[in-house]
Amino acid sequence: MNMQTWNPNSWRELPILQQPNYPDQESLKSVEAQLKSAPPLVFAEETRSLFKQLEDVCEGRAFLLQGGDCAESFSDFNAANIRDTFKTILQMAVVLTYGGKCPVVKIARMAGQYAKPRSADLETIDGVSLPSYRGDIVNNFEFTEQARIPDPQRLMTAYHHSAATLNLLRAFAQGGLADLHQVNRWNMGFVAANPQKEKYQQLADKIQDALEFMEVCGINSTIAPSLKETDLYTSHEALLLGYEEALTRRDHLSGDWYDCSAHFVWIGERTRQLDHAHIEFFKGIKNPIGVKVGPGMDPDDLIRLIDALNPDNIPGRLTLITRMGADILPEKLPALVRKVQQEGRKVIWSSDPMHGNTEKASSGYKTRSFDNIMREISQFFAVHKAEGSYAGGVHLEMTGQHVTECTGGAYGLSDDDLAQRYKTQCDPRLNADQVLELGFLVADLLKDARK
Ligand code: PEP
Ligand code: CO
Repeated sequence: MNMQTWNPNSWRELPILQQPNYPDQESLKSVEAQLKSAPPLVFAEETRSLFKQLEDVCEGRAFLLQGGDCAESFSDFNAANIRDTFKTILQMAVVLTYGGKCPVVKIARMAGQYAKPRSADLETIDGVSLPSYRGDIVNNFEFTEQARIPDPQRLMTAYHHSAATLNLLRAFAQGGLADLHQVNRWNMGFVAANPQKEKYQQLADKIQDALEFMEVCGINSTIAPSLKETDLYTSHEALLLGYEEALTRRDHLSGDWYDCSAHFVWIGERTRQLDHAHIEFFKGIKNPIGVKVGPGMDPDDLIRLIDALNPDNIPGRLTLITRMGADILPEKLPALVRKVQQEGRKVIWSSDPMHGNTEKASSGYKTRSFDNIMREISQFFAVHKAEGSYAGGVHLEMTGQHVTECTGGAYGLSDDDLAQRYKTQCDPRLNADQVLELGFLVADLLKDARK
């Protein structure tokens, strides 16, 4: 890429997919101008500290946990939801830290995850076709003609919701809610109530013992603030480039451009064409970035994609988030990993076990089974072990709420249970119990991988 010609708006010259058709272009321009003068949501220095931590992940010294809603929604925007998802991420992170004996870098899919790519432009119900719902930042989920019209004001609402969410996350991370003793007490509670508690009790007890031992040795949060504070970073799919452009700012310290809508942004599976707008935009921002890699990826194309996004081969810059499906992964992932290893490209490999395992339940709900999700993660670890590469992270669609959207897990949710609390406006998420259970299972894999 030629940095002389790159600009936050140079993507506008190129073909682009998955953008809304705003009927009111004047209003769109005016909102984008307002966003351009609004304060950035994150500060470049924070983004650089995430970059450093991701360098550790890339070099095998840390593990990445990324998770949150498929799509945040304006109607579910409240403190309890934010708190519970935050707590669940922390709880899983503690278990992984202990299992892997390594730091866990935490990135929430929150405070900006409002735009959704769709497989079809239209949704048809009972013979009526309307524009698809594209996330609350674009239109309304309700199935009426009016609701589905893309409304530029929603960009502003999404910005304000993101700011408030980030504010609370920062307060939780630094203000006591992240205390390790407390987090493990929650985990003990989870295990005690779990129908398969004997499977998880031992690990939870060991963590508790370690904390008690530290305590009697005088290692407490007064002398080691990391016991009560944490770093939690934010991320979303940077789909709506008009919004991302407006929040892209030149950092005064380094002179570099950062997308200040989040610390980490990624490109989805449907918008990563080499000669298209999303790749162009991502080339010029200095954030750590991700790109989704589905089962159709060819090894040579993957190298071209890596070179477009990380031409200087900087560790921590690029995370490949593979989302293959449990059945296909063993067939497709090895060739990709081998090629990247052979060519010496430095990437983080992270597993998204959600998007390749979506199915329709007999009840009609879109769901995913806990077993398939876990099977994709296990196979991801197995492939990296066989290829001598590092399984660096997981990327989950999850919530701290007790929803019934994915089947399986220790509580044995069945297709018939889905109707009880099926709340998602988009993809089915793991609930708090399912996430923690996954945490205990992945901790074993991580421990083995890091031996
Ligand atoms: C997502 O992460 O919500 C998503 C749409 O994923 P993908 O681009 O991999 O389909
Ligand atoms: Co999704």
